[in-house]
Amino acid sequence: MVRRMFDEGVRLKTLHGPDKVFDYSLGNPDLTPPTSFVKVVTNILQSNMPGIHGYMTNAGWPDVRDKLAAYLNKTIGHELKKPLDREQVIMTAGAAGAMNCVFKAVLDPGSKVIALAPYFMEYNFYVSNHGGELLVAETDASFRPDPEDLDNNITDDTRAVIINSPNNPTGVIYTKEDLKAIGDVLTKASRRLGRPILLISDEPYRKLVFNDKPVPSVFTAYPYSVVVNSFSKDLSLAGERIGYIAINPEMPGAEVLASAVTLANRILGFVNAPSLMQKAVVELLEESGDLNIYRRRQDLLVGALNQMGYELVKPDGTFYLFPKSPVPDDLAFTEILREELILAVPGCGFARAGYFRLSLCLKEELIEASLAGFARAINRARQLN
Ligand SMILES: Cc1ncc(COP(=O)(O)O)c(C=O)c1O
Repeated sequence: MVRRMFDEGVRLKTLHGPDKVFDYSLGNPDLTPPTSFVKVVTNILQSNMPGIHGYMTNAGWPDVRDKLAAYLNKTIGHELKKPLDREQVIMTAGAAGAMNCVFKAVLDPGSKVIALAPYFMEYNFYVSNHGGELLVAETDASFRPDPEDLDNNITDDTRAVIINSPNNPTGVIYTKEDLKAIGDVLTKASRRLGRPILLISDEPYRKLVFNDKPVPSVFTAYPYSVVVNSFSKDLSLAGERIGYIAINPEMPGAEVLASAVTLANRILGFVNAPSLMQKAVVELLEESGDLNIYRRRQDLLVGALNQMGYELVKPDGTFYLFPKSPVPDDLAFTEILREELILAVPGCGFARAGYFRLSLCLKEELIEASLAGFARAINRARQLN
């Protein structure tokens, strides 16, 4: 649905002009990468580093994995007794590539994976690519995990649970307590099943957080956990396809999983993550795009929508908003928005009907210009109710 709306945006822009169409559909960062990115890439290219354009070990450049492991020990591994080293870090073609490697490594035909709704719908493909089936556990009215519903969805075939915080589409960040509750459910269920269920934490929005809100790590909540991440969103490098898998060093058998995902990286045809990008991003681990820009866009739109009567909370992270649809049928409402030349994705596209997602990857001037359309849309919706 996201892609369909995006394509519709391209069509409408040709018809009406690019400044008349308000494309809130795709999470494709419009900010340019930090200026340091251009400098770092230029330096690498000019240095003629031997082998830089050649194959390397399938897990990625060892020096890159060393530096990334050291950074992860400061951020997501600081409460662990055992530090990460390069053996638990595998460079991948984005978070999408990372998830495909993990699923290839752990799923058998018929295996089940549980996601928490609302969720990024591409998970369905990543799971079915490897013979698995995605099941959906619900979250509560504030989109927080519901441990009981998660537990109810676990069966003998459950192989993994995938979570995403900060969350696309809601912007919600799971607290330490949320993660512990998930970890406790999985610890008990793994004991019951006689084998571990893997917890996969998809974190491409980890750095896109406002008010210094902490993003707790899954590593301390549950030993059988892996993090998948990328530089697509925080450094605006989505097209460069660079990300990584970090395996909890306290996981019994971590080395077996590491070798399985590394083999998957090779045989799925990625072979290795893009070489130049590995060398570049590792120099930029402390950087991210200009959060103030996303924050200004968020303030502007949340303030205006609230005033018009839309129900929504200001998220702590990501560049998404997930307002309630003013009519129960979110498809009908996104159609009303489309008639106002505003492109939004219906909540049913994330397995949570009755909402719609707005991606703030468009300039403030366009957001301003779209406000009249949002006001007309809610007025039209009120007449339908
Ligand atoms: C929740 C989530 N996970 C993963 C991805 C894929 O990211 P990448 O470009 O790193 O493959 C996206 C992209 O929109 C996303 O929103």
